[in-house]
Amino acid sequence: MDFMPELLRFTDGTPVRSPADMAARRREMISLLENEAYGKAIPPVPVSGRRVATDAHCACGTAVVEDLRICCKMDKNTEYSFPLRLYRQTSPGKKPLLLLLNFSDKKYHEYLQPEFVLQNGFSLAVLHYEHLTRDNGDFSDGLAAFFPRRTDGTGAGKITIWAWGAGRALDYLLSREDVDETQVALIGHSRLGKTALWCAAQDERIRYVCSNDSGCMGAACHRTLHEGGESLKVITRAFPFWFCDNLVNRHGQTDALPFDQHFLLACVAPRYVCINSAAEDAWADPTSEQLSCVGASPAWAFYGKTGFLGNETPCGVDEGFPDGEIAYYKRSGKHFLGLPDWASFIGFIKDHRNND
Ligand code: GCU
Repeated sequence: MDFMPELLRFTDGTPVRSPADMAARRREMISLLENEAYGKAIPPVPVSGRRVATDAHCACGTAVVEDLRICCKMDKNTEYSFPLRLYRQTSPGKKPLLLLLNFSDKKYHEYLQPEFVLQNGFSLAVLHYEHLTRDNGDFSDGLAAFFPRRTDGTGAGKITIWAWGAGRALDYLLSREDVDETQVALIGHSRLGKTALWCAAQDERIRYVCSNDSGCMGAACHRTLHEGGESLKVITRAFPFWFCDNLVNRHGQTDALPFDQHFLLACVAPRYVCINSAAEDAWADPTSEQLSCVGASPAWAFYGKTGFLGNETPCGVDEGFPDGEIAYYKRSGKHFLGLPDWASFIGFIKDHRNND
């Protein structure tokens, strides 16, 4: 991994030597990722939430589904609101919460496992990303219309806007009496795994981030790209609007990239990261996802933590390295968010819940 941009050296060449240095390096890496990858972060606005419907029949009546509307005050006279669904526990007390960024707002979408999540003691919030802004190059759509795109190459791409929306959903969720604000996880699959990682890199309220098959511009390192994997050139041609123009204008020149994806994971330290891959998902490049865990791991040492307890040897199918603050798991099967993925995320969170 010597060919990777150095995690533990500031841009001016100074080495990172102390926890304070590591915190400063994290801020530097976030600005680097803003300027060169996803676009500048957007400041939060005041948020409120209201319930629009309730269904008490979920999970054999052991949970309640609340349909909510999250209202963002964009300026003095303008609001933008979007739907959010909460499958919540009915017993009293604060509950750990999983927030899933999803591709649909169907109550029982194929990626959802609400009963499983609820039976494990968590509440589940689900946010359909296209209620924030559509997944295309139209920056006049939805929330994007409120954030005039900068012309200096660092304008927020759609991933940054989706991450911003997840942050506003969290503003509301963390204010609820029934949510344990110290036990919040953000989960995303594929492009939404990329979004979840970028959101958690910036937002320290997220204690656990779980990315599933997030691949290129998610957990997978560019410089280790394996056969069949998605390259920077391909992703920035197919989805230029996900990123800032500075990234697109690099035309896929990976060697000159001033970062690699281990920087993204390292920005989450000392919090918890669970990276899942699928063995038959070469496009998301499972081995490069594992390698970014290896590359990010030294950040955790500055906080007295272990980081990743795996190595560079590709792990076997249906195996993983679950024990450190960064976990990696490769299940059998294809690109999908399924029960084994939920089980590994929930197992990871439960295993680490009582640490520190
Ligand atoms: C495409 C894209 C990937 C992305 C995936 C998804 O395959 O190339 O980068 O992760 O869509 O979001 O499903």
